[in-house]
Amino acid sequence: MIKKNDRVLLIGEKNYLLRAGDMFDSQYGRIDLKKVIGKKYGIKIKTSSGKEFVVIEPTLTDTIYKFKRGPQVVATKDSAAILSVTGCSPGWTVVDAGTGSGFLSIFLANYLKPGKIYTYEIRKDFHEIARKNIKQSGLKNIVIKNKDISKGINEKNVDMVTLDLEEPEKVVKHAFNSLKTGGWLVIYSMHIEQIQRAYKEIKKYNFTEPKILENMQVEWQMQGKNRTFTRPKTHLGHTGFLTFVRKLGS
Ligand SMILES: C[S@@+](CC[C@H](N)C(=O)[O-])C[C@H]1O[C@@H](n2cnc3c(N)ncnc32)[C@H](O)[C@@H]1O
Repeated sequence: MIKKNDRVLLIGEKNYLLRAGDMFDSQYGRIDLKKVIGKKYGIKIKTSSGKEFVVIEPTLTDTIYKFKRGPQVVATKDSAAILSVTGCSPGWTVVDAGTGSGFLSIFLANYLKPGKIYTYEIRKDFHEIARKNIKQSGLKNIVIKNKDISKGINEKNVDMVTLDLEEPEKVVKHAFNSLKTGGWLVIYSMHIEQIQRAYKEIKKYNFTEPKILENMQVEWQMQGKNRTFTRPKTHLGHTGFLTFVRKLGS
């Protein structure tokens, strides 16, 4: 049952992420979302000019892009690649840093619940943005710490450590000590030089050789009156490199 202030996704000629109870003016006329309160997701609603929309319960992926951003966030295509390469599963314990806006933590936490994420952020202002985003996500399995991860990781025997910060090389040793045998260290980096610096550290420990990925994704769209042309909609540029290594033993 839809309650007042619940998020609702309206799907029609355009999609709108709104809240039940809102009054919304669009190019298709006025939408009165008081009408959806007390109804079930899946109902249809008409605008003042007669355009029909289906009211859907949004998923985390529908809502995450509405969250506030501080520093650059990890794109969902790259977060998804972390899941597919590592086999990250519900129940895993993960350490993440830096939290930044919390996008990667939130994406992973939603997937691995009832497992837990411990996420470290050095800056108070970004820690605060992430804390608010995590609260909005409704997830209860994220522990957020306003701490410098290069000083050490408290959690032991973890399944994965994800690093998205300027100097990952300063955290490799702590990640190794925190991981269980077979656990994954994943480094997300904008620049290949960060990987080169981190690799100098990785070599000192009993890790596998790295697998390095750049994950390009191109969305295509149908165009023309009868949808007779299909061509790329976006050319997504470089986001980052993903480097994966696995701990082989102490
Ligand atoms: C690019 S952002 C992370 C974005 C985040 N992965 C997301 O998806 O929203 C990098 C963050 O790392 C933080 N950081 C840098 N060094 C750190 C350290 N030693 N310990 C904890 N956080 C650190 C920065 O303050 C910044 O917020």
